[in-house]
Amino acid sequence: MSTIRRVHGDERLGTAFTLYPYAFDATPSPGTEDELRALLPYHRDNTTLVAEEDGRTVATASAFPAQQNLRGNVLPMAGIGWVATQPDARRQGHGSRLMHRLHAELLDSGHLLATLYPFHPAFYERFGYVGLPLNRTATFPPAALAPLLGVELPGQVTQRSIRDGFEDYRAFQRQLMAHRHGYTYTADYRAARALDPANRWLATAVVDGAVVGVLTYHIDGYGGTLRADELLYSTFLGRALLLRFIATHIHQVSSVVVTVAPDEYPESWVTGLTVRTEAEAAFPTSPPLMARLLSVEALRGARCGPGRVEIEVVDDRLLAGRYRLDGTGGAIDIGPGSGTAKTATLTAAGLAGLAYGVLDPAEVVTRGLGEVPDDAVEELRSLLYRLTPHVFGKG
Ligand SMILES: CC(C)(COP(=O)(O)OP(=O)(O)OC[C@H]1O[C@@H](n2cnc3c(N)ncnc32)[C@H](O)[C@@H]1OP(=O)(O)O)[C@@H](O)C(=O)NCCC(=O)NCCS
Repeated sequence: MSTIRRVHGDERLGTAFTLYPYAFDATPSPGTEDELRALLPYHRDNTTLVAEEDGRTVATASAFPAQQNLRGNVLPMAGIGWVATQPDARRQGHGSRLMHRLHAELLDSGHLLATLYPFHPAFYERFGYVGLPLNRTATFPPAALAPLLGVELPGQVTQRSIRDGFEDYRAFQRQLMAHRHGYTYTADYRAARALDPANRWLATAVVDGAVVGVLTYHIDGYGGTLRADELLYSTFLGRALLLRFIATHIHQVSSVVVTVAPDEYPESWVTGLTVRTEAEAAFPTSPPLMARLLSVEALRGARCGPGRVEIEVVDDRLLAGRYRLDGTGGAIDIGPGSGTAKTATLTAAGLAGLAYGVLDPAEVVTRGLGEVPDDAVEELRSLLYRLTPHVFGKG
């Protein structure tokens, strides 16, 4: 039988890190211990667990601390990753035991939400996770934005290395996180991964001294592609300023690729824009993020519609129980359930689907994630109305 323990600092090198190359990289490769050692700072405050048998690390799982906006509340969230088992020890339950232990430790350390990129979504659905919508990529020729070049806009865009603008970039991310459902903000030691290679430009849109949009990007060559990361803005003027800035590359690059939110409609940015907007879900190469609640307390005080309902969460070690969710005061209040009428029975994944706004109560039923009586469908639909999470700021 294996034992599970937490490892810290350099101890990760001889334990958890021994599994990473085989699980996540092209192998065999002549990768050196120095390369792995160089990654240690990016794991500094991770919760790293290892399962050991006779002194050998057979499996590992880890999580980094972050924050995420859930229906208007910014909450401690854990980004789970680096789940790996030695090939000769797979399908013996190591991964599952590590996940249970990790969830418990994360809750103990104050995390109310957890997210991960799944190798195999059905495995994590059993652990209470639900898939969130993928961001899209919009691909278009910069010439398609030419009409914006003639538009007078009250504001400026400056361009500098991400290394020079990192603090401004992070400050704007914090500003967005405060307002956008689903937005994630990772700890500095994780975010520094973007800083160290410094292979991005940062465009910053400013109006009256206030930042209203940022875009990180790189250009892969003359006549090539301007590859932008997430299009982040707080006002539509901010978006217009960034798009007009992209348009200034009209005779320099032949295409632009930019990541946008699932509810962004690039075809409406200017009249007649030629654009392809797409998202591909594929496993394990392009998985949508999955998320779960580590405690029902994650919903306390959340923005909601009117409604009052009792739920019973089943099949989950952390959440199992009866709760009363009351939105009559404009924000969710949570109390113990009494077992009266209007009780919806939900798996943890079903509750996550409602909390994150990605599933309607009727879909919870059709997806096999719960049983919801008709009157409870109406209450839950109003209380936890559909919302599109903006899964930006990933760690
Ligand atoms: C993904 C990975 C970590 C799973 O680890 P694991 O230790 O095999 O996980 P478990 O044993 O708990 O579960 C794996 C499967 O074995 C099954 N299983 C668990 N115990 C079992 C047992 N005693 N007998 C037979 N099957 C068993 C589980 O039900 C699960 O089945 P499923 O695939 O149908 O869902 C491992 O395959 C791996 O390292 N893959 C490469 C890296 C990777 O993809 N990481 C995940 C990133 S999110």
